Formats: sequence, C-alpha cells, structure tokens
Amino acid sequence: MSMSVEIRKEDGILWVKFNRPEALNAINEDLVKGLRRAIESAREDKEVRMMVLTGEGRAFCAGADVKMFAKIDAYKAREIIEDLGKALEDLEDLEIPVIAAVNGLALGGGCEIAMACDIILASDRAVFGQPEINLGIIPGAGGTQRLARIVGWKKAMELCLTGDRIDAREAEKIGLVNRVVQHEKLIEEVKILAEKLKAKSPKALMLVKQSVNRGFKRSLKDGIEYERDLFALSFASKDAEEGIRAFVEKRAPKFGTRE
Ligand code: COA
Repeated sequence: MSMSVEIRKEDGILWVKFNRPEALNAINEDLVKGLRRAIESAREDKEVRMMVLTGEGRAFCAGADVKMFAKIDAYKAREIIEDLGKALEDLEDLEIPVIAAVNGLALGGGCEIAMACDIILASDRAVFGQPEINLGIIPGAGGTQRLARIVGWKKAMELCLTGDRIDAREAEKIGLVNRVVQHEKLIEEVKILAEKLKAKSPKALMLVKQSVNRGFKRSLKDGIEYERDLFALSFASKDAEEGIRAFVEKRAPKFGTRE
C-alpha cells in the first residue's frame, strides 16, 4: 500500500490522487510506488476506460521531495528518478487515455508527470514550471525533453534556464495545457471528457495513442508508414465494422469493451 497516492475506481474512471498535501504532494519513493500501482491496476482492470491524475489540496505536485534530496546521494537520486521516468513511459504506453487534472501547483516532477499524460486540463489556479535550476540541478524525468517537444525548443530552454513559474493561461497560450477551466468545475469537466471517450472504441483510442506517441519519436515518413499500419489494424476490428455500419444506418455506434 502506498500512503501517498489514493486510488479509486468510479464509473470506469480510475481516479489517482496524489495525497501528501502537507508537502504539496512532493514526490518520494512511496508516491512513485503508488503511481506504479495505479498504472498496474489500469492495465489489468479492463473495466477502467480512463485514468485521471490529480492532487489533494492546493498542489497537483510540487516536484521531487527536496527534503528527501537533502539526505541522498546522486546514485540514489538517479534510482528514484529512473523509477519515476519508467512510470511516465508506462503512462504513455497505457492503452487507455490518461488525463492530468491539474488542480494547482505543478512544478518540477509535477510538471513532468502532467506532460506524460495524454490530455492536460488545468484549473485556473494551476501553476507550471521547472524550478530545478534554483536548486543547482536539472530536470530528470522529461523536463528538458517532453517540454521541448510540447512547447518548442526555445520556450522550453527559457523555462528550464530561468526556473520561472507560469500561470494556467500562459501555459495554455504556449500549448502546455489543452484547456484551462474554472477551478470549481475541474472535476465536472473531467467527467464530461470521460463520458465522451467512453463512447468511443477502446481499440481505436489505444491505436491513436500508439500512433501519436510512437510516431512522434520517428521521422515524418516513418511515422506516416507506422500510422498506415495501425490504420489497417483498426480497420480490421469489429469496432470498425460496427462504427462504419452505424454511420450508414444513421444510428449511434455501440462499440465493444476493452479486451
Ligand atoms: N519537497 C518537499 N517539501 C516541499 C516541496 C518539495 N518539492 N514543496 C513544498 N514542500 C513543503 C514545504 O517544505 C512546506 O512544508 P514545511 O512547512 O513542513 O516545511 C509545505 O510543503 C508548504 O510549502 P511552502 O513552501 O510553505 O508553500 P509556499 O506556498 O510558500 O511555496 C512553493 C510553494 C511550491 C513555491 C515552494 O514550496 C517551493 O518552491 N517548493 C519547491 C518546488 C521545487 O523546487 N520543486 C522541484 C524539486 S526538484
């Protein structure tokens, strides 16, 4: 059991809440363990159609636990960051959509976790940044990598060099978050998104994730070939048969479940 992460299943959504509000949900080994456990349940429990990461209190996650950092050497720090990094890769590889519902501060590792999610919904109270530079270290779980791919080379460079924090609106403007919503409406908006995604084909959702995420790491030509293969895979599915027939018959499609 992880004390730092609360996991709850409701209506096909796996709610994963970072729960160390007294430390602004800073990342320690227990929190990484909880995140890994959540990913495992999402993988195994086929009733789960979407995973949501959020935080208790005023932070989504304030990054690595700096008090823990004060007590460990570079080998141990690397081990913890590697564990987190692998968990974030697993999040990207998960077959269901993963949403970050950023309720407040998302700094350092917190911003890195959000960036590994498929869609980022941010409360108007959210704040983002990579403040590692102020500690004399650099981001270690995607901060210099995913960030540059999301917001562009120079903007990522500026954020990592200065350690400056940006608010939700600025984050939306530079493309770091998909959408900013009123703080009180964050959970409601997540549920609306969940209902929308639940009506889609789980297989097609999975293939979209694979195609976007893996294609992104290839050249355009390789990515397009890869997409074509996955397109054919989707076309051969029962859900495609149903989706296409439903369109022709002018009715809503009834897609299958996760296998
Ligand atoms: N690691 C460990 N504890 C943290 C933390 C972190 N990353 N971020 C916040 N906390 C703790 C604080 O130490 C404090 O607990 P304490 O009073 O028992 O010491 C509590 O959370 C509340 O934080 P506080 O600093 O009092 O809140 P604030 O609103 O004044 O400032 C921040 C909020 C996020 C600006 C500030 O806490 C901060 O800079 N945190 C570090 C962020 C960071 O550098 N993250 C990247 C690490 S690699």
